Amino acid sequence: MVPDTNANFDRLAGAYRWMEWLSFGPLLQRCRCAFLGELETARRALVLGDGDGRFTAELLRANYAVRVDAVDASPAMLRALVERAGASAGRVRTIVADIRLWRPESADAYDLVVSHFFLDCLATEEVVALAGSVRGSLTEGARWVVSDFAVPEGWAGRLAGRVVVGFLYRAFGLLTGLRIRRLPDHAVALRSAGFVLEERKEMLFGLLFSEVWRA
Ligand SMILES: C[S@@+](CC[C@H](N)C(=O)[O-])C[C@H]1O[C@@H](n2cnc3c(N)ncnc32)[C@H](O)[C@@H]1O
Repeated sequence: MVPDTNANFDRLAGAYRWMEWLSFGPLLQRCRCAFLGELETARRALVLGDGDGRFTAELLRANYAVRVDAVDASPAMLRALVERAGASAGRVRTIVADIRLWRPESADAYDLVVSHFFLDCLATEEVVALAGSVRGSLTEGARWVVSDFAVPEGWAGRLAGRVVVGFLYRAFGLLTGLRIRRLPDHAVALRSAGFVLEERKEMLFGLLFSEVWRA
């Protein structure tokens, strides 16, 4: 059953990759994989809203021991994720859920959380609640890798960033019913749950970023 989220990405599952390629070329995937080389020691990963699974597939390829729990509201996206995982699909557990209602099981102990271009589907207070609930299921020193859009500093960056981000929100609003219209303050949310920013990389003059946070 499709959860009652404020957005339905099912119908985008097949075309998502091509839409992304036509708009940003390889840049979003570069962003997702910016810290992949540092994730070889991860053993239990919680991947939030990975959609069609392009990051999960790379993680499974780079790390032969990691097991992944992938949570997404879209069954079609999760089917694409499992397909993309190929021979490593046995190391993936999919969970169809609205992340705003989902809680990790207490027995789970993740050493890695990943959210690429996903927190932007949530309001800041929803990211605060998510970070708080996820924090309780993490091992000591676990990492959270976040990639997303940002509005860059400086007047030109701010202007361009607002135009691009505004356009993306309008497009996703039309295509999926997403009602969120502004980027959440993920940094405030992660800090409030006790995470500390360790590393950050930017692309496209700061319009895209990838960060590693430590619990
Ligand atoms: C913009 S796509 C990003 C997909 C992927 N992470 C990427 O890097 O491109 C957002 C994904 O989050 C999922 N999603 C959006 N809101 C959600 C929610 N409230 N709970 C769970 N998944 C959600 C969508 O189904 C979709 O797969």
